[in-house]
Amino acid sequence: MTVSPSALAPRFHHVGVQTNDLDNSVRWYSEFLGCEQVWVLDRFSELTRSRLPGIRTLTEMVVGEVRIHLFERPGQAADPGQSAVQFQHFCFRVHDPDELVTTRQRWIDLYKSGRFWFALDEQPTDIVVDDDGIQSFYAYEVNGLELEFTYLPGDQS
Ligand SMILES: [Fe+2]
Repeated sequence: MTVSPSALAPRFHHVGVQTNDLDNSVRWYSEFLGCEQVWVLDRFSELTRSRLPGIRTLTEMVVGEVRIHLFERPGQAADPGQSAVQFQHFCFRVHDPDELVTTRQRWIDLYKSGRFWFALDEQPTDIVVDDDGIQSFYAYEVNGLELEFTYLPGDQS
């Protein structure tokens, strides 16, 4: 199926991630995904303060076209064992199946380094391959939110 381009189609801009420990999250997203910290805010509009009571700091982390807005705000840790309506995971596409292996190993190495606080002590899943040759693994980021990494063979988008 061909999707016709539309000037009106929205383009994805960023994902917001709440954390109890901004420094831990900034270091982890830098070392795990190679993000750069682009800006930091510690003064907020009334709207932001009413949407996110208790917000202390907001920072933008960027790698390639991916932007992650980390904001520190005291809150309950993520609990994937409880079913809740939330963004369930977000997925990064890699260009080579070997990148899945190295990314998964980097996750494990950073976990074992003991330099980061993790909300959960779950390890990454194995890399699974479906009937179409799509490969994926899932891992929790430091705050307990689920990330997926996927390889789509050929020209699958
Ligand atoms: Fe997915």
